[in-house]
Amino acid sequence: MERRIITTEVTEEEKRTEQSLRPQMLAQYIGQEKIKTNLKVYIDAARARGESLDHVLFYGPPGLGKTTLSGIIANEMGVNMKVTSGPAIEKPGEMAAILNNLQEGDVLFVDEIHRLNRQVEEVLYPAMEDFAIDIMLGKESSARSIRLDLPHFTLVGATTRAGLLTAPLRDRFGVVQKLEFYTPEELKIIVERSAGVMGVEIHEDGAAEIARRSRGTPRLANRLLRRVRDFAQVRYDGVITRQVADFALDILDVDKMGLDNNDRNILLTMIQKFGGGPVGLDTLAAALGEDAGTLEDVYEPYLLMNGFLNRTPRGRVATEHAYRHLDIPV
Ligand code: ADE
Repeated sequence: MERRIITTEVTEEEKRTEQSLRPQMLAQYIGQEKIKTNLKVYIDAARARGESLDHVLFYGPPGLGKTTLSGIIANEMGVNMKVTSGPAIEKPGEMAAILNNLQEGDVLFVDEIHRLNRQVEEVLYPAMEDFAIDIMLGKESSARSIRLDLPHFTLVGATTRAGLLTAPLRDRFGVVQKLEFYTPEELKIIVERSAGVMGVEIHEDGAAEIARRSRGTPRLANRLLRRVRDFAQVRYDGVITRQVADFALDILDVDKMGLDNNDRNILLTMIQKFGGGPVGLDTLAAALGEDAGTLEDVYEPYLLMNGFLNRTPRGRVATEHAYRHLDIPV
């Protein structure tokens, strides 16, 4: 089976350990300074007024902390969080039932909110705006609707694709926050914190090496930490040193810039099949056998941010930096 390190899927093992590694309160959360500062103000203000927090939309690449921040909002507000996702809700009635079961002030977290279908999404409009749902009774000429009041709640939506949200849905969020990639310094602190939670001894330069190669993404940093720990345990004496981290990460095919086989394959395909570009997103996706949306939202942001590729009006272009990194003459 093809081994992929970066996927949008989250394994069961990961759900369990991720859960235990997740910070519970804002003060424990590392990075995303602007979001933390803003959220603290909104949370303090809502609490002081005794109101539920306004609806919040988080967007950005996977693994940067959207679910974690939603849980923190619930904890800081002292309420429960219910979790669902866009593709999990198929019928308007299912959404109505979830909303109707919320307690006053609860957080409803909807992951991949851009994947809600139209009818389900329409249930959310009055729910978000007026804390009510309209229920249709009867058919055709005798049809009428009755309004059912809901408890006040906070919808926290998460998406990797803010551009796919319909305007009426997007406009109903009072707070919209973009998650940014983490710096290696921030990731190093996260790795050290996670190692502490897991009870693994780690050297500072071991943590730094994992951090550098984690694509700016805490989920990946924690994933790599678990794998490096396995090597440390079986091949070494259990301590994660720089040498162990280097050894394990090389075996895992994560290079010094944090690029994995998928990233390198994207750049190689651009260079070898399309002369370095410009190549259209759909054409590139077809050549890779990858979904264009996944390519754009999961892989591209990190490559863009680190100057491996550029977006131009005529398509994607591999940069000189990409050629040099892959050791291909420009
Ligand atoms: N674990 C995963 N993400 C984290 C973060 N942003 N801060 C602290 N621990 C984390």
